[in-house]
Amino acid sequence: MAFIKKIGVLTSGGDSPGMNAAIRAIVRTGLDYGFQMYGIRDGYMGLHNNDIIQLGRHSVSDLLNRGGTFLGTARFPEFKQPKVREESVAVMKKIGLDALVVIGGDGSYMGAKFISELGFPTIGLPGTIDNDIAGTDATIGFDTALNTAVSCIDKLRDTCSSHKRISVCEVMGHHCGDLAVSCAVACGVEAVLVPEVPWNKKEVYASIKAGIDAGKRHAILVVCENQTDVYQMAKELEALIGLETRATVLGHIQRGGTPSPYDRVLASRMGAYAIELLRQGHSGRCVGVQNGELVNEDIVECITKHKHQFMRSTYDLAQKLR
Ligand code: F6P
Repeated sequence: MAFIKKIGVLTSGGDSPGMNAAIRAIVRTGLDYGFQMYGIRDGYMGLHNNDIIQLGRHSVSDLLNRGGTFLGTARFPEFKQPKVREESVAVMKKIGLDALVVIGGDGSYMGAKFISELGFPTIGLPGTIDNDIAGTDATIGFDTALNTAVSCIDKLRDTCSSHKRISVCEVMGHHCGDLAVSCAVACGVEAVLVPEVPWNKKEVYASIKAGIDAGKRHAILVVCENQTDVYQMAKELEALIGLETRATVLGHIQRGGTPSPYDRVLASRMGAYAIELLRQGHSGRCVGVQNGELVNEDIVECITKHKHQFMRSTYDLAQKLR
């Protein structure tokens, strides 16, 4: 698009490993095409506060393997207010930014939608460990978070098995069970509890008890966050089964760490693709990967109409193999 000269990039919402790799690809691809590239610090809050820096090729050196986001990120609910959005667009006009790439989850996509509606070409990239975005098979950071969670659960298994204990482990995912079910298959756990599949406490407890009664030395339950109080669950299991039971919340550990090679490649592909889309004149689109190929979809449809496809077959496999 002839009129684009300056492109901004921001990361928003919860950080995810691979965001830096995406920024690097966006900046270097943009520079190669002769665009001026700008980094917006701390997401939409930085846009509103005019916390914006020009980025060169070397501004993004040594970032590919680093977790987090060097631009910083924030949750900025104020961006829902039309006045705040208009003030932010005024900042873009002042700097001369013609287009924006937003890396984040569905809340960040909502912000991107507003900006594109105000006349600025905007592209969204799915950056979240939750894998809960429609229009893509994988989000940037999911694979790394899965690796982190799996290595933690493997460690729990060691100590559970030594002590003949039960472990209840809470993983992230917001309201999406993809991380939990992937952990369940990768770690061979006894039970996985996710929001997409109704579960019954009594039945879950009975199946854990049956396993222990049949001679298992330990049991591991993986629970997606926002499902139940895992500390309370541990108490109840201990009282029912008579084996010491511990609860572990993996928490924000899952959001950090060096991105996996898969996430680095995915983020780099998506970042470069975002610039290609802007060059082709697209706006209000979000990037995804489907069956290994990069795709783009209408951002409004992604937020409102499409539903993220829960990994149901992975859940079923976890049930079969336990
Ligand atoms: O969306 C990413 C995520 O890590 C969710 O898995 C989790 O529910 C939430 O963010 C935690 O948010 P915060 O960092 O604000 O505690």
